[in-house]
Amino acid sequence: MLKFPDGFLWGAATASYQIEGAWQEDEKGASIWDHYSHQPYRILNNDTGDVACDHYHRYIEDIALMKSLGMQAYRFSISWPRVLPSGSGPINTKGLAFYDRLVDQLLEAGIMPCPTLYHWDLPQALEDRGGWANRDSADWFADYARVIFNHLGDRVKFWFTLNEPFVSSFIGYGEGRHAPGLADTSLAYQTAHHLLLAHGKAVQVFRSGSNPGKIGIVLNLSHYTPASQSEADQLTCQRVYEQNAGLFLSSVFKSAYPEYLFNWIGAHQPKIETGDLETISAPLDFLGVNYYMSNKVSYDPHGTLMRAHVEQISSPGWGKTDMGWDVHPSGLTAILQDVSDNYTKLPIYITENGSAFPDDPDENGFVKDPARTNYLRVHLAAAHQAIGKGVNLKGYFVWSLLDNFEWALGYAPRFGIIRVDYKTLKRTPKLSALWYQKTIQNSGFEE
Ligand code: FCB
Repeated sequence: MLKFPDGFLWGAATASYQIEGAWQEDEKGASIWDHYSHQPYRILNNDTGDVACDHYHRYIEDIALMKSLGMQAYRFSISWPRVLPSGSGPINTKGLAFYDRLVDQLLEAGIMPCPTLYHWDLPQALEDRGGWANRDSADWFADYARVIFNHLGDRVKFWFTLNEPFVSSFIGYGEGRHAPGLADTSLAYQTAHHLLLAHGKAVQVFRSGSNPGKIGIVLNLSHYTPASQSEADQLTCQRVYEQNAGLFLSSVFKSAYPEYLFNWIGAHQPKIETGDLETISAPLDFLGVNYYMSNKVSYDPHGTLMRAHVEQISSPGWGKTDMGWDVHPSGLTAILQDVSDNYTKLPIYITENGSAFPDDPDENGFVKDPARTNYLRVHLAAAHQAIGKGVNLKGYFVWSLLDNFEWALGYAPRFGIIRVDYKTLKRTPKLSALWYQKTIQNSGFEE
């Protein structure tokens, strides 16, 4: 039996736009994802999050399911435009009341609420004012955070500021594959800086209030290795690592941006004001890590700014998932060790890890998903190894509780351990959910 330490926290994660639906209900404002998904050809099959899993109306059932699976914690996100329809200014009390009900219901079920303040659904009204490219966005976010802390801070003890600021900035503003759909390299760095500043300001707001809880940030960390020992490949790998991980880890934990990267990007460097890095590195209580993949990096003279060719690494026996992602559990051990050796000894939580595989439900909607189950097993084993090597890992949240709207790929990839039939919205726990239930019960599993 592979046993996790006492007190190891077991949960599942979701995000507002991916599950809530009710996109216009109770005076909710539009988010950049509402706006983006309503544009033709942005999303596979022109899917939208208008209804999604209809969690806004079905949260009681969803919490009951979590309880039956023995979940100890639930990581969800709060929709900023549901609470502040125009991003700043008047509070929509009906929107805020939804999160009251959600938190109260979770507490009643004995499940710890772990909200993320921002999982990519910026109010469109703020995008119309420049979004994260506008330096004011850091203050807009801090003001929004204050509203939420003041309202839920008496009951919520476990907070995350941002989910994956790398994706918001580099995919949303740098490549345009996510909302708001802009493709400008300089903007990627500038919005990353503003997101980090927003994070730091929110932490300062949190510390200045009488909040008894704890707070952290969620970063997506992939593992990178050079394709060869050549100097060119090693330096390229360093650049890619510093852009995707170092930019965030180093500013948050060392109050400095990676020097080599910043020399390399030259004129693309963001505008930074005195004191910004001090704000960004406001002390945290823990770090959330999302892990999905590992990559091999080589020098590509014809590549774009990074001059890099990045290829995923697969462990033997695994094909690609429905995302086209390779599977490489030992990369998880490696990134956890990297964080622990080079950035922080604070508690770490794996805040997302999971996989999309084709599901084949039987006539009752039950899905036998040995691949997804095995994915969880091997990644948990990799996490366990990291603990053995001294990493201060304290918990694991599976991505995801429910099949949901997978951003640019719409409803095609299914990540849930609970199946959602999108026609009837019926929920059915999959085999992986039953395996996870047993794993939680035993705080471990048979190898
Ligand atoms: C992460 C996102 C999450 C989900 C998974 C598959 O990057 O945080 O919302 O889409 O990928």
